[in-house]
Amino acid sequence: MIHIALPKGRLGEKAYQIFKSLGYGCPEIEEDNRKLIFENPENDVCYFWAKPSDVPVYVERGAADIGIVGKDILLEHGSDVYELLDLGMGKCRMAVAGIRGHRPAADKTLRVATKFPNIARSYYASQSREIEIIRLNGSIEIAPLLGLSDVIVDIVETGTTLKENDLEPFETIVPISARLIANKASYKFQYDAIRTICEKIEAERSAQT
Ligand code: PRP
Repeated sequence: MIHIALPKGRLGEKAYQIFKSLGYGCPEIEEDNRKLIFENPENDVCYFWAKPSDVPVYVERGAADIGIVGKDILLEHGSDVYELLDLGMGKCRMAVAGIRGHRPAADKTLRVATKFPNIARSYYASQSREIEIIRLNGSIEIAPLLGLSDVIVDIVETGTTLKENDLEPFETIVPISARLIANKASYKFQYDAIRTICEKIEAERSAQT
C-alpha cells in the first residue's frame, strides 16, 4: 500500500482529483467528515491530510511514501526527499516586494519580513546583501506598511494582495509550483508502484497539452 501525504486545502484537493482520475480513488475521502486518514485497500492507497508545511516531514521520515508539496516549502525546509515531478499546478512565485515606488537604499542593512527565512537568507547571500530577517507567520504584507520591515519575501500568485495594499513586487526570487516528492527508501522498495504513479501522471499531463 502506498501512503500519500496531501496538503490540506485547494492544492491537496486538486492533487487528489488527479490521483482519482488515474485509478487511485478512495471514496471515503470525498465524504463530508473530519477524518484525516483514508484507506482504500482495493487500490492499494492510503491518503492523509497534513498541514502543507508538514508534508515533507512525513515524507522524509517515511510516514508517507509520497506527497504533494509546494516548491516554496521544499526550498525552505531543504528536505532530504526525491523530487519526482513538477505537477504544473499551484503556480506562483517567490518575490521581494515593498511599498510602491519606495525602493530601499542599497547601502543600509535591509529589514526583510518573511515566513521563508532560509529562502530569503540564501537569496540575499547570493547578492552579498546584508539583511536582518524578521520572521512572521502570515499577513506578511502589513510589515512594510507599519514600518516593521523595508521589504517582504513572500508568495505572489495573482498579485492582488500586493496591489490592494499599495505594495509592488521588486524582484522574483524563484518560480513555484506543486511537486510530487518521495521518501528515499520507499522509492527504492516500492519502486514499481511509485514509478507507475509518476508515469500515469506524466501521460495524463502530456495528453492534456
Ligand atoms: C499568500 C501569500 C500572499 C498571498 C498572495 O497568503 O502569503 O499573502 O497568498 O496571493 P495573491 O498574489 O494572489 O494575492 P496566504 O493566503 O497563504 O496567507 P498568509 O497571509 O497566511 O501567508
